[in-house]
Amino acid sequence: MELCSNPGDPIEREIAMNGTKMHLVQMMFHTPIAHTVLGWAQPNDRQVEGLTSFAYWQDIARTAERGCLDGIFFADTPAARDEYQGKFDANLRYGVVWPTHDPMPVVAAMAAATEKLGFAVTLSVTGTPPYLAVRRLSTLDCLSNGRIGWNVVTGFLKSEHRAVGSTEIMEHDERYDYADEYMEICNAFWKSADEDAFPVNRETGIFADPSKIRVVDYEGRFLRSRGVNPVMRSAQGRPVIFQAGSSGRGMRFAARHAEVVFAIQPHLAGMKAFVDRIEAARKEVSRPDPVRVLFGVQPVIADSLEKARERVTELGQAAPLDAVLSRLSGTFGVDLSKFDPDKPVGELQSQASLGMIASLTDDLTGRPTLREVARRFAVSGGLLQLMGTPIQVADQMEKLWRESGGHGFIVTPMEQPGSIEQFVHSVVPILQERGIFRREYETATFRGHLH
Ligand SMILES: Cc1cc2nc3c(=O)[nH]c(=O)nc-3n(C[C@H](O)[C@H](O)[C@H](O)COP(=O)(O)O)c2cc1C
Repeated sequence: MELCSNPGDPIEREIAMNGTKMHLVQMMFHTPIAHTVLGWAQPNDRQVEGLTSFAYWQDIARTAERGCLDGIFFADTPAARDEYQGKFDANLRYGVVWPTHDPMPVVAAMAAATEKLGFAVTLSVTGTPPYLAVRRLSTLDCLSNGRIGWNVVTGFLKSEHRAVGSTEIMEHDERYDYADEYMEICNAFWKSADEDAFPVNRETGIFADPSKIRVVDYEGRFLRSRGVNPVMRSAQGRPVIFQAGSSGRGMRFAARHAEVVFAIQPHLAGMKAFVDRIEAARKEVSRPDPVRVLFGVQPVIADSLEKARERVTELGQAAPLDAVLSRLSGTFGVDLSKFDPDKPVGELQSQASLGMIASLTDDLTGRPTLREVARRFAVSGGLLQLMGTPIQVADQMEKLWRESGGHGFIVTPMEQPGSIEQFVHSVVPILQERGIFRREYETATFRGHLH
């Protein structure tokens, strides 16, 4: 077995949750920034160079694998945002999650540079027929020997729907009905071949046994598909299904389909409530296997808590309000330039991302204004910030993990690749010493790591 780091002398503590350990996934975007607006403009940030380099991503993958992380998660919104002022300008001017490059080729390159690390890649059900989604995802899953996950999203950006030629954008809940059908088709393809369907026998010349491969023939309200699964079985059968919706309808979708749910919650109480709601939704659909919940966090690691706070304040001040609002407008689905920044956001109605609005405003006291939400959103994108020295960050992670009922974290960087290296080199070893995070991979597939 490969060691992910020098084990030293472990002080094994009592491990919470029946011996299970924390799960850690590194979050990335194939764009100039992750969540920190103008992150690309920091002097040590190299993400823009990464847009034209496989080597950049492969180095990050190796770093993550050295840290024994479960995997890397690629978020993706495949279109620029034009809700703000009804035009793309602010989004483009400041490189706010744009240019938005396809994460799939990068995942292929990163998987080629690693052996154990998993990769969850976001692919919207908008624009790609389910048959082609199965083909692309399963091809990666085969090439990586079972290390791929799929973050299923419905595409909350109107600009994405327009870019791929949809004439009308479905309402929030109906998008999930559509996604239900989409998943039914994908699952039908993934289940259509038996494990022993591919003898690949050189002597007999028999590649596959057609009696063990069923034709999928699906006709639903929105979608239809007829065909044979185009790809061989991968080591894990099908990609691990991730999902990130947190509205009531989003949770019902997750309870039905997702193996891992990625959630943003601003504090421990919110995390506990989220886990309870997912558990309730899981029981409602009588699903026997567990749903893993990972909470998005942004570690801000520095020599002291004060220095971490100073860094956040600096980055927040460096982000122009226009740039932040161009991102938030896409998330909220409304043109925030028409809104007085000093009015409470609670008055906003949105079809775009209801779960996100709730989590962004939940812990702000009183009636938070748009300006307050934007200031917080500028650096962390609404993810909970864990600030301080490596030990302080590890302490917060341990407490949240032990007490929330969640299974771990999706960690977003402020600076790339610096934040990733800093996290792996300074916080991960502390979690390992405490016996709550793996020192070596015990399984070969992404699903294996996550269970
Ligand atoms: C933590 C989190 C991460 C998300 N990541 C993506 C993403 O990468 N791409 C995307 O198109 N939508 C993303 N979404 C949007 C969701 O998939 C979903 O469309 C949106 O939250 C609306 O559903 P909800 O109201 O159920 O939350 C994300 C949402 C959350 C809360």
